[in-house]
Amino acid sequence: MAQSVKGMRDLFGTELRWFQHIEETARRVFERHGYGEIRTPILEELEVFKRSVGESSDIVNKEMYQFTDKGGREVVMRPENTAGVVRAAIQHKLLTSSDPVLFYYIGPQFRYERMQAGRYRQFYQIGAESFGVATPEAEAESLLMLHSFFTELGLKHLLFSINSVGTPESRPGFHAAFRAFFAERADRFCEDCHRRIETNPLRVLDCKIETCQAALEGHPVITDHLDEASAKHHARLKALLTELGLPFEENSRLVRGLDYYTRTAFEVLSADLGAQSALLGGGRYDGLVKLLGGPDVPAFGWAIGLDRLAMVLQQVHGDVPHTPPALLIPLGVRAATEALKLARTLWDAGVALQVETRGGALKKAMTSANRTGVQTVLILGDGELDAGTVTVKHMATGEQEAWPLGEVVARLVKS
Ligand code: HAM
Repeated sequence: MAQSVKGMRDLFGTELRWFQHIEETARRVFERHGYGEIRTPILEELEVFKRSVGESSDIVNKEMYQFTDKGGREVVMRPENTAGVVRAAIQHKLLTSSDPVLFYYIGPQFRYERMQAGRYRQFYQIGAESFGVATPEAEAESLLMLHSFFTELGLKHLLFSINSVGTPESRPGFHAAFRAFFAERADRFCEDCHRRIETNPLRVLDCKIETCQAALEGHPVITDHLDEASAKHHARLKALLTELGLPFEENSRLVRGLDYYTRTAFEVLSADLGAQSALLGGGRYDGLVKLLGGPDVPAFGWAIGLDRLAMVLQQVHGDVPHTPPALLIPLGVRAATEALKLARTLWDAGVALQVETRGGALKKAMTSANRTGVQTVLILGDGELDAGTVTVKHMATGEQEAWPLGEVVARLVKS
């Protein structure tokens, strides 16, 4: 029997209901904040990610679904959406005025990752990117949007974990201090970290190996090496978060796995997922638009892992509140025709309804109704047709009544 590809799964039932509920909530909240949707292709040219996410990142190094297409182009199934959104915004000249441009997206991403709980090779992100504003106020506004989004989903106990990674210009000071620190205890770090200290020292802070994390004890802190403007920016953001009552902690090891960040980097952690797992991550990326060939426009954004968020919500709340449609059971050929006519009127009036079209015995249909949790069953047989009624059975109480056919629509629309 054919199986889905490892790390890729089918979505249906409760999990998909959570996906849909989360997506609807995202659209409602983000559009309230002035964000508009953007959809970019799944395939992008390799260069888009090499130059943005970075050649020293694990994503580009180890995790991309990358191939040559029939036309000889080197393409990648997007491992994330920020680079694609930036590419699209440049290509369509959307960043040419000084006005802020606000986008959100929802869609699948692909990373050839090692399998663990809540980690997939096809996973889904909901993200938001804001272009054109360099201030900490723009970041606070974006985090407030996230906070209302989580609140509307009924998740309350979340913590923003924040750091500043400075600017490329101010980083050499930190790199020097950090390389000296590394050299003193180099034998305690893994092989990958030895490569990282050469190509991008910040990546060492991000190493997932426990012994490397232990060896980092007492490491030089980036926020001690910030240029004056970045330090002011960081202090202002913290003051705003405090003023707005958004809970946060500072994490000096938070550097994120992508190379494009400048100044603010952040994640949101959920205790329900286990210590390592971030529900979302993001930050400022002021140099990326220019790096990919666009104007010098600052930017800030984040992406939520939809799979993980759905998992947490399912753990906390169980199923999404939903009522299965009512079930209309016709008995006999004459009723089968009339049932379809009645169903059409009900659907047109907006009533959620399924029709039993298999024919056969009432008992079998009632057993299905019980199994699937149907709450209202309508029965239409010759007796009902002659009397101009429909028999309505309320499954929770077992109570049964006859409704005049002419009143069925009005009564079901009301319930
Ligand atoms: P990221 O941290 O690589 O950032 O991914 C964001 C979120 O996607 C993670 O926090 C996690 O919840 C989810 N995620 C990542 N990989 C997987 C996976 N294999 N399975 C399940 N969930 C996963 C970015 O992608 C940036 N583009 C975020 C951003 C937007 N920065 C600025 N704007």
